[in-house]
Amino acid sequence: MSQSQPVRATPELHLLPGSPPAPIARAVRLWLLTVAGLCFAIAVVGAITRLTESGLSMVEWKPLLQDIPPLSEAQWQVVFGKYQLSPQYLQVTHGMSLTEFQGIFWWEWTHRLIAQFIGVAFALPFLWFLLRRQLPRRLIPYLVGLFVLGGMQGLLGWAMVASGLVDRPSVSHYRLAAHLSLDLTIYSLTLWTAFFVGHPRASVLIDSTVRPMIQRHAAVGLAALAITMVWGAFTAGLRAGLIYNTFPLMGGGFVPPDVLAYHPWWSNFVENPSAVQFVHRMLAMTTGLILLALALRLRAAPTAAGALRKLATFMFAIVALQIGLGIATVVNQVPVWLGALHQANAILLLGIVVRALYLLRAPTVAQFKPRLIVTGKAA
Ligand code: HEM
Repeated sequence: MSQSQPVRATPELHLLPGSPPAPIARAVRLWLLTVAGLCFAIAVVGAITRLTESGLSMVEWKPLLQDIPPLSEAQWQVVFGKYQLSPQYLQVTHGMSLTEFQGIFWWEWTHRLIAQFIGVAFALPFLWFLLRRQLPRRLIPYLVGLFVLGGMQGLLGWAMVASGLVDRPSVSHYRLAAHLSLDLTIYSLTLWTAFFVGHPRASVLIDSTVRPMIQRHAAVGLAALAITMVWGAFTAGLRAGLIYNTFPLMGGGFVPPDVLAYHPWWSNFVENPSAVQFVHRMLAMTTGLILLALALRLRAAPTAAGALRKLATFMFAIVALQIGLGIATVVNQVPVWLGALHQANAILLLGIVVRALYLLRAPTVAQFKPRLIVTGKAA
């Protein structure tokens, strides 16, 4: 090859020592992004399941065996008969017709079907890439860990439903929050892995003089967002959005009058629906300010590359939308579509903040030095 001929990096480019070539990296990234998308979808279907009071319609847990829904009138009667023995039917939906039951059954059934589909959509491609030795070795334990977390999520989901099948026809809001939090942890970690597989090289999207400060800001934003979402799940689980349907005041004042009605005082913040909604509002406003400031800071950083600026603009819009959706949800007494949209937008926002943190991460050039495989073709 003559010296005057520039060498072009071809699709055979290896990015990491021992990492797959770019086309395989693309396939792995697509697989992981699909799994993250499914984690997103199941959370939204989960929210609709809860908002339509469908979550306690299936009173048994038989993984795999439940994929075939009742097909005949007789089978429907059997499933409906079991539901009629549940506390929800006995105390809340007594007299419900079979047609009404079918309406709630399908949401829970779809939710469980997607849950199992996520397991398959994760495991089969994982085994495929593994057997063909196409996964970087250091990624394998990490992916196994994600799969284990997915299994735990299934158990937690059932534990949550089971808590609503004895005596009290509602699920524990703590278990609901744990179930949502674990799904979003898997979602965030899967996204991070997908970003890593796609672009494992050190990020140089922002100058190192401003990067550490903005990175810390983003980390605080992520923590604040996570806490706000947990209190959002408490608000949802306690049906606290059905009271104090005004904004910004609650019961005529900034702080609701019964904010400390429970004893001991600290239990109000996790048990009292009024205080829980109030805390969610306060956390939301604080998180909103932190993330709006982060977006502005990223946009204003003189050295930020275009990708980071675009992400910052998107973040700004999604934060503003999230606050607007929250207010609309509470003022309208939580219609199903608004509750689901508020949830979906929160998860989108989480993905954006994870992406920002990924793009802001410290350069690790020495560790991930690109290894070019030159095919010898001249440009
Ligand atoms: C950064 C801003 C916010 C975030 C990240 C956030 C996040 C969430 C999340 C994750 C849920 C749980 C949804 C579910 O489990 O289905 C939720 C529920 C809720 N949020 Fe927010 N929220 C924000 C702002 C607000 C604001 C400003 C309000 C009202 C002023 C609000 C009111 C509510 C209500 C009433 C619910 C319960 C809805 C239901 O029963 O389904 N949120 N929020």
